[in-house]
Amino acid sequence: MKIEPLTGVIGARITGIDLQNVDESAAKELRENICRHQVVVIPDQSLSPKEQTEFSHQLGPYSPVPFVQPIPNHPEVIKIVKKASEVNAFNFGGVWHSDFSFLETPPAFTILHSIDVPVTGGDTVWTSNSAAYEALDSESKSKFESVTCIHSASASYSPKQQNLHSALTGMDIRTSTEAEKTQEHPLVCTHPETGIKSLFFNGTYVRGLRGPEISSSEDEEHLLLWLHNWTTHVRFTFRHRWANGDVVIWDNRSTQHVAINDYAGQRRELNRTTVAGEIPSLY
Ligand code: SIN
Repeated sequence: MKIEPLTGVIGARITGIDLQNVDESAAKELRENICRHQVVVIPDQSLSPKEQTEFSHQLGPYSPVPFVQPIPNHPEVIKIVKKASEVNAFNFGGVWHSDFSFLETPPAFTILHSIDVPVTGGDTVWTSNSAAYEALDSESKSKFESVTCIHSASASYSPKQQNLHSALTGMDIRTSTEAEKTQEHPLVCTHPETGIKSLFFNGTYVRGLRGPEISSSEDEEHLLLWLHNWTTHVRFTFRHRWANGDVVIWDNRSTQHVAINDYAGQRRELNRTTVAGEIPSLY
């Protein structure tokens, strides 16, 4: 396996590995590198949905996917697809988020395999929530340890968003009032494998904040906006331009990502699996 960092902060390209043939020691090395680099790009792969599911299991068990229906016969695979004709449709994953952070146990890793991607546009951008934590001054680090984030899927998957999702006719996304449920996680979380702290924050699913210094809705709104702007600052980011056959794997415990909707008139299709994580915690 050859590992080349792609920025000084986040992202690495890995070559010399065939994801159809990964043994236990390669899976361990890969996992360590995903945790360390937070996003890894593995080009020139060709995984069927069955092979992607099998590879996913080498990193850990399946992490359930709410709201988005899997593809037929492959219950762990979802297809992210926007057709060339869907010029005015929204882009799945088109706002900064960490996958399903509103669950009690959000997924550790997401594996995205490009099948048919635009010649130009349709990039994905990740930001390092651990670099964003590390760049804080010591007073903010300590203050943020007493903040709790209230996560919910309401802004994305409540029934009033159904029309938006239905515009993507190649996907079957079923909104539900279940999206209104809330789940609390600490703002500062320690990565269970690296021991590195992160701001476990994303502006899409974190709908509220609690903490000793948040005494009004103005304080809450102000800190929500501040955290969004801080964590998504360009200096913490890595942007990937997709080619067919890429497999990109990221660590949801220490990153956020956004898929850019700038490829009107071109098809974009990728298969996605998710790997189970743990309950996020400060210690
Ligand atoms: C996602 O949020 O999982 C989708 C990312 C992408 O399509 O690039």
